[in-house]
Amino acid sequence: MFSLRPMTIDDYDAVMTLMQQTPGISLRDADSRENIARYLARNPGHSLVALSGEDIVGCIMSGHDGRRGYLQHLLVHPGHRRLGIANALVERCLAALQEIGIHKSHIDVLRENEIGAAYWRSQGWQLRTDIDRYSFISSDNKNT
Ligand SMILES: CC(C)(COP(=O)(O)OP(=O)(O)OC[C@H]1O[C@@H](n2cnc3c(N)ncnc32)[C@H](O)[C@@H]1OP(=O)(O)O)[C@@H](O)C(=O)NCCC(=O)NCCS
Repeated sequence: MFSLRPMTIDDYDAVMTLMQQTPGISLRDADSRENIARYLARNPGHSLVALSGEDIVGCIMSGHDGRRGYLQHLLVHPGHRRLGIANALVERCLAALQEIGIHKSHIDVLRENEIGAAYWRSQGWQLRTDIDRYSFISSDNKNT
């Protein structure tokens, strides 16, 4: 049994610990407490945690730019996988995005993350081969 609720900044330490222990999740300086607080404030109710009892065992963050949705940092603790938690988290994010008229969403998956790729493929998400993502860092900090 699990439940979902919106993520708040008070969940930051527990969520970061979960992420740091999970291969396939890339954490950058952009994931600082201050930045995550700003992200949650900009996208209220669009990031979620999954609970088993009192323990956070899964999470997802999502937001939008007014026209497309962006999902990130989906993960479920290894001891709680294949129970439908990821699907429940994704469904609730997509439903919240649909409610405000956003019907197309994206997720970046590290190419080495085979579990992540298998999950998204299994759920009907299309691997884009027609787009290359270009990034630019306007800082000396290459881990930004
Ligand atoms: C990917 C991940 C979030 C899936 O979480 P989960 O709660 O176990 O997923 P669910 O139970 O909701 O799975 C629903 C369905 O997705 C598919 N699925 C889930 N994990 C899968 C895997 N490792 N390989 C292939 N298909 C998978 C299955 O069809 C599954 O249904 P089934 O259990 O009836 O076969 C979890 O494995 C995880 O945290 N991985 C590490 C972090 C990660 O890679 N996150 C994605 C970053 S982009």
